[in-house]
Amino acid sequence: MNRYFKLSLLAAASLGLIGTAQAADEVEVLHWWTSGGEAAAVQVLKEDLESKNVGWQDMAVAGGGGDAARTTLKTRVTAGDPPTAGQMLGMAVRDWAEQGSLGNLNEIAATEGWEDVVPSAVKAFAKYEDDWVAAPVNIHRPHWVWSNPQVLADNGIDAPPSSWEEFNAAAEKLQANGVIPLAHGGQPWQDATIFEAVVLGLGGADFYQKSIIEADEEAITSDTMKAVFDQMRTMRGFVDPNFSGRDWNLATAMVLNGEAAMQIMGDWAKGEIVAAELIPGEDILCSLVPGTEGSFLFNTDFFAMFNVGDDKQAAQMQLASSILAPGFQETFNLTKGSIPANMQVSDENFDLCGQKSMADLKAAESAGTLMGSLAHGHGQPSAVQAAYVDVVTEHFNSDMSSEDAVQKMAAAVADAQF
Ligand code: BGC
Repeated sequence: MNRYFKLSLLAAASLGLIGTAQAADEVEVLHWWTSGGEAAAVQVLKEDLESKNVGWQDMAVAGGGGDAARTTLKTRVTAGDPPTAGQMLGMAVRDWAEQGSLGNLNEIAATEGWEDVVPSAVKAFAKYEDDWVAAPVNIHRPHWVWSNPQVLADNGIDAPPSSWEEFNAAAEKLQANGVIPLAHGGQPWQDATIFEAVVLGLGGADFYQKSIIEADEEAITSDTMKAVFDQMRTMRGFVDPNFSGRDWNLATAMVLNGEAAMQIMGDWAKGEIVAAELIPGEDILCSLVPGTEGSFLFNTDFFAMFNVGDDKQAAQMQLASSILAPGFQETFNLTKGSIPANMQVSDENFDLCGQKSMADLKAAESAGTLMGSLAHGHGQPSAVQAAYVDVVTEHFNSDMSSEDAVQKMAAAVADAQF
């Protein structure tokens, strides 16, 4: 390009006549948000950036829970061609930071006061060795029961179950009446989502802390953990014969259309309810998994910012800045089903389930019962997480006894730690 042409291009750009080079004005974002509610949430982010003249190159990799997305991300980064940002769960942020693949967001974090608005438990993953490396977009809670009140009422069940006895009794009643009690998708991460909720629900916060966060052998092989596997076996009897491999959002749809009564799932299911123009807390009820009131398992979706060339950094910083902005956090999380990671956002416009989650988060933070979700990458590093999940899935899909399951889990977890 000759000098004259270059100068006129710059002049035209500064007058706003043309955009600057496309790559500089664009972010490429890898994520796994492909269900109806998830895609609507992505749209909120995309439009926010477009309003700031930053283009969006979509890199969506289907697959709930992000298993496929993690593989694609690895391939891209290993090939030396990282996207601008990648959606990831807590422990993965640490892994990528440890490998030196992530950029530094300290400047923008300081300018925008992230330190004071993000809860410490989330900050523990967004920062690596004191440097901000990822922007948290939300806080999800995986241990909800989503239930169809009409289906419950039609079967003589007044309210969602608040104890395991009630849960099992309601499910048996529904089943006897020909209704699928539990909508479930048999994918390992979905099995694990139920499992961790039962661990917390039957064992309580201290037991979750010991058996999952601390991977304590005695807790893993305890009678309480055997009771957890017994309950998993009981619940296996409450799912329909076609559960294997079903996507989570199809299971949510079964509750929405009355084919099934309940689903145990994170509040991304609320995104599906909103996308279907139903009112969460009214048309579809949200209640906590029995026994988990007073505790809060969390998972946050982070956008980790990869090391990219100088020409792409302005757009990347705009993405980071947009993600934490209070207005965006409100609109995004109303669509996604989660609650804001920026604690300054008021709960005023949230539905009953969102308001409960926001209040419960604060209470759990002060009570010391706010803990990372194992199923969703905040409980253990990926190898140890996989050791737990493999046993859970194997048990759910076989006739393995609870005694064998706890022994197998203890051995697999111990192996994975070394
Ligand atoms: C993510 C959610 C996502 C869900 C299902 C979870 O691990 O945190 O954002 O909606 O997986 O895909």
